[in-house]
Amino acid sequence: MNDYFIQVDQVHKDYKIEKSEIKVLRGVNLDVRRGEWIALLGASGSGKTTLLNIVGALETPDKGEVTFDGFKYTSMSREKAADFRLTKVGFIFQAYHMLPELTILENVKLPAMLKGRHGEDVSAEAKDLLEKVGLGHRLRHKPAELSGGEQQRAAIARSLINTPQLVLADEPTGNLDSQTGSEILEIFKKLHDSDSGKTLIMVTHDPDVANLADRIVHMKDGIIVENA
Ligand SMILES: Nc1ncnc2c1ncn2[C@@H]1O[C@H](COP(=O)(O)OP(=O)(O)OP(=O)(O)O)[C@@H](O)[C@H]1O
Ligand SMILES: [Mg+2]
Repeated sequence: MNDYFIQVDQVHKDYKIEKSEIKVLRGVNLDVRRGEWIALLGASGSGKTTLLNIVGALETPDKGEVTFDGFKYTSMSREKAADFRLTKVGFIFQAYHMLPELTILENVKLPAMLKGRHGEDVSAEAKDLLEKVGLGHRLRHKPAELSGGEQQRAAIARSLINTPQLVLADEPTGNLDSQTGSEILEIFKKLHDSDSGKTLIMVTHDPDVANLADRIVHMKDGIIVENA
């Protein structure tokens, strides 16, 4: 019995493009405690997004294993992986990835509807989450009618609609000015400090952002290094 929530054990990932092969992850080990906030730093191309995608079961490792709450990913079918992503993991990306045709409220409801949840309680939950991120007055807006910071706040609300235990964020403040970025970080801080204390893995290039986290992890050339 151990108290780690997520364990990444000797994960390797290669990409093959025509005849050449890029070794992107070369034996990554990372243990994350429940409720821990990890900041993942490293040079461009060091493999941060790839690692996040593997932890979120968007991609599979070539070698190695990820364990989530005692459950091993290698035993997961594609169907199970899709349900796992929808239920257990919230994703937040640098470029927001809101669907442009839907209102903000509809975007936030979408992951719940994909899980077969419909009706008034889903709408009420989505509204509540949007109010918590300060967007209660923007429910009927389309993403293009919002600022970048507002879209990212909506994306955070969307990531939480299925009450995931793990939230993965890939440079969530990368496209925002520093004031707006600080507001977004304040939301993450609340998420982290709340009773339901989400486990948070956040990729960032900004050391100031990283200082808010419980632990800073550096990646270099496809592995995690102790001292950057
Ligand atoms: N689907 C893919 N096919 C081929 N190569 C890929 C693919 N995804 C990533 N790579 C390569 O893997 C390496 C690591 O990419 P990754 O996106 O994980 O880096 P990163 O650390 O997130 O960088 P950045 O800080 O620029 O976002 C890069 O050299 C990239 O070109
Ligand atoms: Mg990246």
